[in-house]
Amino acid sequence: MFLSLTFLASIFITIQFYKWIKFYLKISKIPGPKNQIPFFGIINNFIGEKVGNYGKNFLEIISKTEPIQKVWFGPKIFIIPNTPEMFKTIFTSLYCVDKPRYIYGGFFANNGLLSSNGSVQEKHRKILSYSMTPKMLNQLVPVFEEKIQKFIKRMKNKIDGDEFNVFEDVAACTLEALVKGNFQYDYDCYESDLLKACASSDGITLRRIMQPWMSFEFLFKISQLSKDVKRIFGPIYSAVDKILEQNEHLRIESDDKKGIFIKQLLNLKNEFSEEEIRDEIFILIFAGSETTATTLSMCLLLLAMHKNIQNKIIEEINTKNSNDDFPYIEMVLKEVMRLFPIGPIIFRETTAEIMLESCEVPKNTTIAIPIYFLHRNENIWGKDANEFKPERFEANKIDKIHSYSFVPFSGGKRMCIGYKYAMTFMKIFIVNFFKEFEIETSLKYEEMDVKVLPTITVTQGFPIKIKKRTI
Ligand code: HEM
Repeated sequence: MFLSLTFLASIFITIQFYKWIKFYLKISKIPGPKNQIPFFGIINNFIGEKVGNYGKNFLEIISKTEPIQKVWFGPKIFIIPNTPEMFKTIFTSLYCVDKPRYIYGGFFANNGLLSSNGSVQEKHRKILSYSMTPKMLNQLVPVFEEKIQKFIKRMKNKIDGDEFNVFEDVAACTLEALVKGNFQYDYDCYESDLLKACASSDGITLRRIMQPWMSFEFLFKISQLSKDVKRIFGPIYSAVDKILEQNEHLRIESDDKKGIFIKQLLNLKNEFSEEEIRDEIFILIFAGSETTATTLSMCLLLLAMHKNIQNKIIEEINTKNSNDDFPYIEMVLKEVMRLFPIGPIIFRETTAEIMLESCEVPKNTTIAIPIYFLHRNENIWGKDANEFKPERFEANKIDKIHSYSFVPFSGGKRMCIGYKYAMTFMKIFIVNFFKEFEIETSLKYEEMDVKVLPTITVTQGFPIKIKKRTI
């Protein structure tokens, strides 16, 4: 008995060893930073560092120009592609749809779109996408207008006052529109615990990523992190309870297959479990509010720094009706997201071997997709890649650039489900804002200190000074 067990164990170890050698040989052809310590990789660059610096350190270690590289992070390897062609291969591959559990999972709302994989994600996405179609979004426009007008009224009290960080107010406006539009939950978010909970998500997500062993449910449940998650996200869980309480009447079998988000979730015909419903509400609040609020605050800050571009926006608003297209505003928003994509690095896990140009990437490998680098790559965007120039999105210029060079909402089957929602909301916000105000700031573009993980933000905040519009 003992001998046969030993025999089986040695066969198992030999197979694992063989697999590991095969894996190692394949990835050994991919270049990477020189200073990687065996089994630790670049982890020594993070020991003793402030959590806020992790992202910056990571981006500084990896090369900005190598088309593809590998980085060992402890025993885990990241493959980092950096060309639009490789981004296209990844986003269109059937084998790069999943997200790595040790980064996205075992934490909160595991059944929500952002972190689920396989058939759960596929089914949810198919049903929930209906609530983000242009027809559905048109129905939400009056809610957007109402919440933006409330914000503008608050901003009128700031006219000719001191410079202030506009982020909290923008975030409250965005959150109010999101919960009312998608969940029929009319809630005053200004200075609320719900707003604070959404704003604290970055720190806790980063703590989780830096402790990969927390993806094991039993370890997570007994950890301090789990207690902190419950405490910090408590107000979001309470909001989920209230949203469900108020929408109880929607739990019916309905043939209306194209309702707003909460109707899709509660329609009994769609067969979501109670846990899945809760997780999806949580994830929409989590993924939809901070992202849009940060992008909009960044847009206001950049416009306060670039008066000439602000004037062009005002010129466009002066010559159009509210229902028209606003091509210049759209270009400005795209340029904001090119320079400051809210997800600067996102991750995928291969479920089969794939080829990235001439490199074989084995099954079960993590790919780190550095959207931030690609968006600032001088070979694609030119020598002025780091400058804020919305005109680069004019049709005749952008048409000459590979379509996978600009992916602020990611791409393929995991592309942001809310991208049309976000673009619609942001355009209405900017039009209404610049109908009333002009803005300026003392912060210089060159002095912006950008924090890059897990989402992008500016450490100095978003300081602006508001004046009544004179032109
Ligand atoms: C400017 C605003 C936004 C940006 C730049 C943005 C960007 C992104 C990116 C890059 C991803 C992929 C994340 C990853 O793979 O790790 C993503 C996913 C997602 N976003 Fe957004 N987002 C924005 C607004 C929104 C809004 C308004 C909603 C909802 C109303 C939303 C809901 C989601 C969801 C549910 C996912 C997961 C989709 C899936 O995996 O199937 N986002 N977003």
